This record gives sequence, structure tokens and C-alpha cells, in this order.
Amino acid sequence: MKFKSVVAGALMMPAVALAWPWSTDMMNQPNIKPQEGPMALFPDRSIPVEGIPTQVADREASRDLQNPVPVTAESVKKGRDLYKIYCGACHGNTGTGDGAVGAKIGAIALNTDYIQSGMTEGWIWGTITFGSYVMPAYGVVQGKRGSNDLTVEERWHVVNYIRNGMMKDAAATTAAGN
Ligand code: HEC
Repeated sequence: MKFKSVVAGALMMPAVALAWPWSTDMMNQPNIKPQEGPMALFPDRSIPVEGIPTQVADREASRDLQNPVPVTAESVKKGRDLYKIYCGACHGNTGTGDGAVGAKIGAIALNTDYIQSGMTEGWIWGTITFGSYVMPAYGVVQGKRGSNDLTVEERWHVVNYIRNGMMKDAAATTAAGN
């Protein structure tokens, strides 16, 4: 009589029931759990999801890259936002080279013919990726400098903005007198 009431009592207590061995049966399966075992290698011939080449050796090798990101209003807008965050402090918000830092270190203006038509889009992308003499690098450059703050695609958005939005913004700012 006493034994039966102990069993009945145990069945009614969930804390005890959880400790029974079969309560973990569903968890212990033959799969590999997070942090367990080696990470599987990527299958042969895997490609990056975005499909844009990132393996460019240096700025020189970027010179003739074709811009894979079409110039759309959306791309120019993304480029403008990124430009203001990453470039404006040196090159000025509309590319006049009058950013707070730029004035001290001599950042060049980007609204000149030299930038607007004298260099290839690939070269601008390469400058953002690898940096220049003083200018920092925004791509990941294995074993060398580079903050990796901007993705491959984001750098092309910035290029699209410099070539297709910056001059219009500058004109609008001048017209508005500020
Ligand atoms: C810390 C200041 C600084 C920041 C931030 C900066 N730049 Fe520059 N940039 C410079 C300076 C200084 C030069 C000129 C000297 C040199 O080449 O380093 C330059 C040169 C350039 C050139 C001309 C390269 C050439 O071949 O003459 C381009 C294009 C350019 N920057 C674009 C950008 C863009 C786009 C960004 C933002 C992603 C950016 N820069 C951020 C300082 C900066």
C-alpha cells in the first residue's frame, strides 16, 4: 500500500518525471549539434551568394572591372547613405573635399573631371577596396590593411552615387544656398 502511493506521487510530480532517462530520448539523435564536431567544408565549386568577384589582387587589377550593379534610384540612394557615413568626413558631403577631416589631411574633391570622367569606375571601386596613399581601405585585404566595413556590392553602390548622384546633390545644395 505504501509503495503504490509513492509511485502515484512520483507520477504527479513533473520535476521527477523530467529526470527519467527517456525524457531526453528525442534530443539524443545521431546528428551533429552546434559546437560539436568539425565544420563541414563547402562543397566543390561553391560560389558566393552574391556572385560578385571579390578576389582582386590590388587596385591596379580593379581598374578594368565592369560595374555589375545597375544604376537604379535605389542603388544611388544606398550609395549616398553609405557615402555620407564613410566618405563625407574627408571628401565633403557633396564631394567638394571640405569635410572636417579632409580639410586637415588634404582629401581631394570628388566633383572634379579627374574623378567624374578621368578614371574608370573600377578604379574608384578599387580605391574604396584597397585604399590609397592616405585614404583607408574599406574592403578586406587578406594580410594587409582593410576594415571590411563595406561589402563588394555596397562599394559599387558608392561608385554609382559618386558618378550619378553626387553632382546633382551638389547643384541642389548650391541652388538652395547652403
Ligand atoms: C580619412 C579620410 C578619407 C576617407 C574617410 C576617404 N577618403 Fe578618399 N581620399 C582621401 C585622401 C587623402 C585622398 C588623396 C590622397 C590619397 O590618394 O590617399 C583620397 C583619394 C580618393 C580618390 C581618388 C583616388 C585617385 O586615384 O586619385 C577617390 C576616388 C576616393 N578617395 C574615394 C573615396 C570614397 C568613395 C570614400 C568612402 C568610401 C573615401 N574616399 C573615404 C581621404 C579619405
